[in-house]
Amino acid sequence: MRAVVVGASSGLGRCIGVGLGQRGAQVALLARRRERLAAAAAEAGAGALAIECDVTGTASITSAIAKAAADLGGIDALVYTPAIGPLARLADTDADTWRRVFDTNVTGAAVVTAAAIPHLTRSGGTAVYLSSVSASLTPPWPGLGAYAVSKAALDKMVEAWRVEHPTVGFTRCTVGDCMGGEGDSMSAFPSASEWDWDLAGELHPVWQARGLLAGCFIDVEDLVNAVDGLLRSGQSLATPSITLAPRPQGP
Ligand SMILES: NC(=O)c1ccc[n+]([C@@H]2O[C@H](COP(=O)([O-])OP(=O)(O)OC[C@H]3O[C@@H](n4cnc5c(N)ncnc54)[C@H](OP(=O)(O)O)[C@@H]3O)[C@@H](O)[C@H]2O)c1
Repeated sequence: MRAVVVGASSGLGRCIGVGLGQRGAQVALLARRRERLAAAAAEAGAGALAIECDVTGTASITSAIAKAAADLGGIDALVYTPAIGPLARLADTDADTWRRVFDTNVTGAAVVTAAAIPHLTRSGGTAVYLSSVSASLTPPWPGLGAYAVSKAALDKMVEAWRVEHPTVGFTRCTVGDCMGGEGDSMSAFPSASEWDWDLAGELHPVWQARGLLAGCFIDVEDLVNAVDGLLRSGQSLATPSITLAPRPQGP
């Protein structure tokens, strides 16, 4: 299996990219931070590729996907993970913030998919997109409205690709809270630069009162196994969605 994993320099994307490589896939790992990608590629195994890509730039995407396809000899699987989630009340979320969130979380996914679709069509491959239980399945968290809206848009985008390209698998992978792995593989979400920590302090009691801080996490190995299993199953045409949610703790 020849797999391109976007957002593979950190967190869940890194765990998936490295995990697929360690399970025998030929992987191309894409993100902006080259040194982190090189370290991830070394962990992923022989032949793993590190390719710089900024998903907010069409030229960067086009050249990165072309390089991945050329060096891998084709693409059987695409996994899209990048997302940002600035913390701001909707009344304070300006147009620039909306654009930044959509550029990374939605438009980037669409442009990456458009670049990869000829290769996925040729291979009868699969594209998987990370969505979020807390953004897509539960009511939005106060302060994370733009993030929730962007994930809803991403979810619909996956459905739209399915309609237009029935021979390619498109699967939304909705994930519950997850710490990722260790070191660079630990989730860096929320990014310190994207959060107003005073506002986080104000909203924390609201999140707690609404039961949003359940403190239950999924094991990232379960996520990697689920994505790997889906990609190898040949069942992605019939799998529009998978969900990994933690089981409640305690009695
Ligand atoms: N962590 C959770 O609890 C959780 C729960 C549910 C869903 N999710 C979803 O899982 C995905 C990954 O989350 P995470 O927690 O692993 O986040 P993370 O640690 O912040 O990783 C984000 C990754 O996206 C890449 N990225 C961001 N902007 C990019 C850009 N412009 N171009 C290319 N790559 C870019 C980053 O790489 P560079 O900065 O090097 O470019 C990094 O590799 C997200 O879609 C998130 O919504 C996470």
